[in-house]
Amino acid sequence: MSRPVAREPDWGSWLRSWDEQQESFNPSRERRFEAMLDVLAATQPSSMRVLDLGCGPGSLTARLLDRFPKARSTAVDFDPVILRVGQGALRRLATRITWVEADIGSEGWPRGWPTHRFHAAISTTALHWLGPDQLRRLHRTVAGLLRPGGVFLNGDYLPWARRDAGLGKIAEAVRKSKYGSLGSEWTGWNRWWKRLAREPTLRPLLQEREARFAHTRKSSRHLSVEFHLRSLRRAGFRDVGVVWQEMENRVVLARAGSGRP
Ligand SMILES: C[S@@+](CC[C@H](N)C(=O)[O-])C[C@H]1O[C@@H](n2cnc3c(N)ncnc32)[C@H](O)[C@@H]1O
Repeated sequence: MSRPVAREPDWGSWLRSWDEQQESFNPSRERRFEAMLDVLAATQPSSMRVLDLGCGPGSLTARLLDRFPKARSTAVDFDPVILRVGQGALRRLATRITWVEADIGSEGWPRGWPTHRFHAAISTTALHWLGPDQLRRLHRTVAGLLRPGGVFLNGDYLPWARRDAGLGKIAEAVRKSKYGSLGSEWTGWNRWWKRLAREPTLRPLLQEREARFAHTRKSSRHLSVEFHLRSLRRAGFRDVGVVWQEMENRVVLARAGSGRP
């Protein structure tokens, strides 16, 4: 007797609903993406090679490759499920994306790759998963992966330091009055993962995901923007600063070595 063949998930729809739930955390998500891509447009060749760190299902990589048709992306994430969603949803861009499964918080990644340096490393809403030592190490690693003049761009919720708690409170009040109170976005995140867990073909990967993330810790408090800027300077970057922000939602830019002004 033949077993019923599991239906292929509708990957495109999973990516769309991912974007929706991410937008509920960050209503300015598209504007933040755009600001990052604007920096790339102004500083890098259109045939740039880009590293997307904590790429998720490839939301930023997709926008990058659509805007720059000669660009290529190496998209890195540690979550086998989210990578599967991205691979399924972005088949139309498959020849320009290299998906890499790696823990960017670990020591010794990337091992054995790449064979070239990147024009840019980009990341959104991902690096807050790393602790302070991991982030410092990542900054040093990225500095070594970029070409001279290459840029690192990190878009994330990067709070003011504790001593500027007053500014943090104002930012929180503005966020609340503009977008409503916090909480519902976590419902969206949890609901998304619960629904995805019902996809029979993903069961083995979901088990793998659980085992993997049992050992990595989500940091409870995001590291401050000052911490990021200081760590980037210490890693050897220059031209380090915030290039876009909406309250504590920011994009940090850092440039590697010497290159074009
Ligand atoms: C909130 S999602 C953001 C994904 C994507 N950048 C976006 O903006 O839609 C955070 C991503 O970081 C990834 N991540 C967290 N810790 C990681 C690590 N140590 N190594 C690689 N990826 C990691 C998660 O698996 C997840 O896909």
